[in-house]
Amino acid sequence: MRRAIYPGSFDPITMGHLDIIERSARLFDEVIVALLLNIEKQPMFTTEERVEMIREVTPWSNVRVDTFEGLLVHFAVQQQAQFVVRGIRAISDYEYELQMALMNRRLEPNVETVFLMAGEAYSYISSRLIKEVFKLGGSIKGLVPELVEKRMRDKMANG
Ligand code: PNS
Repeated sequence: MRRAIYPGSFDPITMGHLDIIERSARLFDEVIVALLLNIEKQPMFTTEERVEMIREVTPWSNVRVDTFEGLLVHFAVQQQAQFVVRGIRAISDYEYELQMALMNRRLEPNVETVFLMAGEAYSYISSRLIKEVFKLGGSIKGLVPELVEKRMRDKMANG
C-alpha cells in the first residue's frame, strides 16, 4: 500500500492544490490531505471550515482529509505513509522545499518527499495572493473551486 501525505495550511484550497491532489491520487494508493493545525494566528477559515471545503472538492475515492499537529514526519509514521507530496510552482519554491525535505529526511529517513509540478496555468497561484486579491475586490474566478469562492464571499459578507 503506497500511502502519501499532502500537507499544508490550505487557507483556502486552490486549483493549484487540487491539481496536485489529483496527480497524487493517480500515483499513490491512498493520499491523505493533511491540514496543519494552528499555522497562522489569523486564518481566513477555521480548521473545520477548511477540512469541510477540501472534502467537498476532492471527489477521488482514495483521497481523505485529516489534521495534524507537531512534526509532519511523526504524522507520516503514525499514518504509515511512506511519502510526502509537495507541489513546486517556480524555482523560488525549491530552496525552502529542499530545506524541508532534507530536514524531514534527517528526522525520518524512511519517509520520502516527492515533488510534483502543478499545471503551468496554476504556477503563480498561492492562497496568500488569492486572499489579497479577493479582499481588494479583484476576480479570483478559476483560481479556486467555485464552492471556495462562494465561501469567501459569504465570509466577507458575514464575517
Ligand atoms: O503549504 P504550507 O502551508 O507552506 O505547508 C507547510 C507545512 C505544513 C508542510 C510545514 O509547515 C510543516 O510540515 N509543518 C509541520 C511542522 C514540521 O514538521 N516542521 C519541520 C519541517 S522540516
